Amino acid sequence: MKLEHPTLSQFVLEQEAEHGGTGEFSNILLDLGVVGKTISREVNKAGLVGILGDAGLENTSGDQVKKLDVLANELFINYLSKTQHFCAIASEEETDIVPLPQSAQANYVIAFDPLDGSSNIDFNVSIGTIFSIHRRLSNIGPGTLADFLQPGHAQVAAGYILYGSSTMLVYSTGHGVHGFTLDPSIGEWLLSHHRITIPQQCQVYSANEAYAHTWDAVSQKFLEDFKRTTPQATSRHIGSLVADIHRNLLKGGLYFRPYDNASKRQAKLRLNYELKPLAFIVEQAGGYATDGQRNILDITPSQLHQKYPMIAGNAAIVQQYEQKYVVAARSLPTPSGYQ
Ligand code: AHG
Ligand code: MN
Ligand code: MN
Repeated sequence: MKLEHPTLSQFVLEQEAEHGGTGEFSNILLDLGVVGKTISREVNKAGLVGILGDAGLENTSGDQVKKLDVLANELFINYLSKTQHFCAIASEEETDIVPLPQSAQANYVIAFDPLDGSSNIDFNVSIGTIFSIHRRLSNIGPGTLADFLQPGHAQVAAGYILYGSSTMLVYSTGHGVHGFTLDPSIGEWLLSHHRITIPQQCQVYSANEAYAHTWDAVSQKFLEDFKRTTPQATSRHIGSLVADIHRNLLKGGLYFRPYDNASKRQAKLRLNYELKPLAFIVEQAGGYATDGQRNILDITPSQLHQKYPMIAGNAAIVQQYEQKYVVAARSLPTPSGYQ
């Protein structure tokens, strides 16, 4: 009997041999795999051990924090702060960056959303963890805020762990996108999706259309035209960004969350730990992600918890949107709530 799928460790070692490297990245990915397995275990038993529900706090972005958000955040920080890979960590659930003086010589910083899709936690709907890794800009010592405020194109790796009907780890180090499925019976990540590329045809669109009335006229018209002229496309919106992007990567699709005025839940997507890493994955899979006017990966963040819109998916359709939006943007007011 033989293992039909390479394990994560076999695969990252092969990749390291193919693309060169010091082995540090292989170790980082394996460590992220360990944290992912641990969070997956907690998510799977959450209903039985009383860790569903609100933690009774609000985070910096004003979201209601769930108990599982807190747990995933603590697991991530505790584990990664002992690995010596990172000189600082940033998390959606932490107001400021967490500098790591004990790893002052480390070359990298990591930003993450410990649990994306928190509003779905209590209902057994897919949620995920998203991560973004940069080489530090600072010379030595604990990492600094400036190490995180780099455009997405400067990421050296990004990815996510999706807790769905099975648990998957999807990552890119700039050499394509690879997906692994957790086989819980042996506790291993097995390569199940080698070199993910977005199918040419756009089969699905994902938008929270409850907010459509708050979008600018160009975005409203674009989605209406898209629906009329793309008969094969159906609507699927989970409300966990990571799960929506994952499905659209595999199926061919459009994620649509434009600038939004006047909504009380305006501007929910965070640039540093949601949009940059997912846009990196989308681009590595042959797609494109924009805020309407420019590639998400070209935006230099000015703040840690900065929020942005994103339209992402099949390159041709996203570029069509961008062309229309850029022309109109000259006369559109700047939406409030975005920096
Ligand atoms: P988080 O759970 O990390 O706060 O992120 C939630 C985000 C994203 O995952 C999701 O697609 C979006 O919020 C949904 O928000 P709306 O209900 O505003 O559409
Ligand atoms: Mn999130
Ligand atoms: Mn989150």
